[in-house]
Amino acid sequence: MHLERIQLVNFRNYRDEELSFSPGINVFVGNNAQGKTNLLESVHVLSTSRSHRAFSDRDLVLWGENAFAIAGTVSTRSIRHQIRIRYDVDAGKDVEIDGKKVYRSSDLTQVLAVIVFSPEDLQVVKGSPGMRRRFLDSELIQINPAYRHAYREYTKALQHRNSILKGSAAAHHGLDSDLAIWDEQLASHGAKLIELRREAVQELKVLSADKYGAVSGGGEELELAYATSFPCEESSGEEATKEALLSALAKTRRESLSRGSTVVGPHRDDLAIYVEGQDLRSFGSQGQQRTAILAMKMAMLEFVERCIDDLPVLLLDDVMSELDEKRRKYLLSVVSNRIQTFITTTSPDIGNAISDSPTVYRVENGRAWRC
Ligand SMILES: Nc1ncnc2c1ncn2[C@@H]1O[C@H](COP(=O)(O)OP(=O)(O)O)[C@@H](O)[C@H]1O
Ligand SMILES: [Mg+2]
Repeated sequence: MHLERIQLVNFRNYRDEELSFSPGINVFVGNNAQGKTNLLESVHVLSTSRSHRAFSDRDLVLWGENAFAIAGTVSTRSIRHQIRIRYDVDAGKDVEIDGKKVYRSSDLTQVLAVIVFSPEDLQVVKGSPGMRRRFLDSELIQINPAYRHAYREYTKALQHRNSILKGSAAAHHGLDSDLAIWDEQLASHGAKLIELRREAVQELKVLSADKYGAVSGGGEELELAYATSFPCEESSGEEATKEALLSALAKTRRESLSRGSTVVGPHRDDLAIYVEGQDLRSFGSQGQQRTAILAMKMAMLEFVERCIDDLPVLLLDDVMSELDEKRRKYLLSVVSNRIQTFITTTSPDIGNAISDSPTVYRVENGRAWRC
């Protein structure tokens, strides 16, 4: 799939802009704070209806205005689609594909899937477990309906349980039976979530080991493993996972009550990353960590490609300058002209490093044009 054209009205610092893109590599060159990331962000919004970096849709509206609109034309293998997203601070958001209203963001992802790789991702290996969970969640929620359902129901149950835990200081009557109801909900959706994450990690593990080898020139082995926040056998199946989570919730009830929040479950799980058996989250050179996330992102690209049976669009925001020669070369070798790629950079010479003659754009103060 590739994005042929985009139109932005009052989106971030773009008042009114229309651009068409190459199905291969598109490079956006400009100084800082000109609108390069904003442009990639608009592509992300087209794909998921949400920004990957703003907390609220309101932040996306050009200052002083009340609404933004993004329209895009996407070409998939067989057919062309029109996506339209409008947001108004009073009326809310409205999403249409080919003139028909859609209500699930995953419908957008069916038409346009994106993978973002930005400098913040370089923190995924070393950062908090939440960053690694997000690495898994953000794509899985978009491409797997069962995952999205389990995630949503789990989150709801967790909020309910936590509000009971918080309110419990008043020693409220029937606390145990209230909690038991939510424990059951939490364990059943949580077990599903964990099983689906484990399946994904199993596939990502093989893919990323392969890619890690390609960047590092072999020799070192990368290994991913899903790490639960409570004792739970890996290969025991969903029912056993549910039992394990139920029992962990019961065992930690006292601690959860004193903290006012649930201390075990998939919202506390982690993705363990090893190189040669060493835990990269706490050990490992910066080089190894960068190679690991690069391999993991490229693995995710392939994973998503398998799931949707088409190639997602790759958004590389300012990462080229963060990578050394070897890793940059690898990234460009994966990208080539096979995948539609958007690359932002402050250095005009990046284009020369790309052999597949990219289409180059200049970005300046909320305007973009093809050079
Ligand atoms: N809602 C908004 N309305 C108008 N301008 C905005 C809005 N949000 C961000 N900006 C401006 O966009 C610019 C940053 O754009 P960005 O795409 O992040 O820059 P870069 O080219 O460095 O990637 C800044 O000048 C910022 O002030
Ligand atoms: Mg930027």
